[in-house]
Amino acid sequence: MTVCSAPGKVYLFGEHAVVYGEPAVPCAVERRATVTVEPRDDDHVRVTAEDLSLDGFTVEYDGSSEGRPDVDVERSLVDAAMGYIDAAVAQARDAADAPGAGFDITVESAIPLGAGLGSSAAVVVAGIDAATRALGEPLPTREVAERAYRAEFEVQDGQASRADTFCSAMGGAVRVEGDDCERIDAPNLPFVVGFDGGAGDTGALVAGVRELKERHGFAADTVEAIGDVTREGERLLADAAPEKRPSPDLLDELGELMDFNHGLLSALGVSSRSLDAMVWAAREAGAYGAKLTGAGGGGCIVALDSTDRTETALSFTQGCEESFRAELATEGVRVEGE
Ligand code: PMV
Repeated sequence: MTVCSAPGKVYLFGEHAVVYGEPAVPCAVERRATVTVEPRDDDHVRVTAEDLSLDGFTVEYDGSSEGRPDVDVERSLVDAAMGYIDAAVAQARDAADAPGAGFDITVESAIPLGAGLGSSAAVVVAGIDAATRALGEPLPTREVAERAYRAEFEVQDGQASRADTFCSAMGGAVRVEGDDCERIDAPNLPFVVGFDGGAGDTGALVAGVRELKERHGFAADTVEAIGDVTREGERLLADAAPEKRPSPDLLDELGELMDFNHGLLSALGVSSRSLDAMVWAAREAGAYGAKLTGAGGGGCIVALDSTDRTETALSFTQGCEESFRAELATEGVRVEGE
């Protein structure tokens, strides 16, 4: 039995603009998906998923998501979850050169689904790592990231950026610019996440930004301005001592940039009433800054606050279903047990 876990992520800066070649800085956060893999004697794949906000389901199938039995959860959610697991299994079989390998897979995740926290990437990264290890063919972490990206790319019809999978595999803060991905130094930032219980439609939101950008020069300028904010943020992180607690000055400056980034995303039409309500609740509670994270439309915001005030304020905010502290996860994918 092999157990691996991988973290979710928040965008400190740069979502949407990253689609047009601007840099982005996602950060892995201490909310993990854990995947347990046990090889089987036949080529079947049996998946048990708990805590996926899916009420829990168990599915047995013969290596593809065709022919799966009826389960008592919304079909689209099962299809989505199974698609990712299929793709991860295919990557693991390919990497280990074991096309007929079967597995019992259990997925547990503390990352809200489809809410901008990279839940699917974490499951795919942990799944590929656990399955290849279970087959006796562990991969270097960068290859886990690459294969997880290919799996997401396939499931999402080419709509995946490398940000989620690279960040989940490597951990810490990363910078992504086109196909270039690298880990960057960052101090342990005091992230607080607010979740409105919903999710945005990433494809539609990305298409909306593209359309605005094509129609208005100032929308294109807004995308470039997000790139400028991100570059400024990268400079601040590069100048900070990564091993130290972040200074209040650094948090002040990063927070100001996060606020600016949220305003620009809002101008591009990807915020929502609940996201704005949570952002304002965080700011009024004294957070250094707050912004939506991920595609927007609904889902999560991220704020910086070293105290409990933002988490508490969010828990009393209408439209916020859950709030939690989620500090930088310095470790990416890791083995929890073998
Ligand atoms: O909501 P998420 O975590 O899938 O992030 C989407 C980020 C976008 O920049 C909007 C799209 C992308 O693929 O980079």
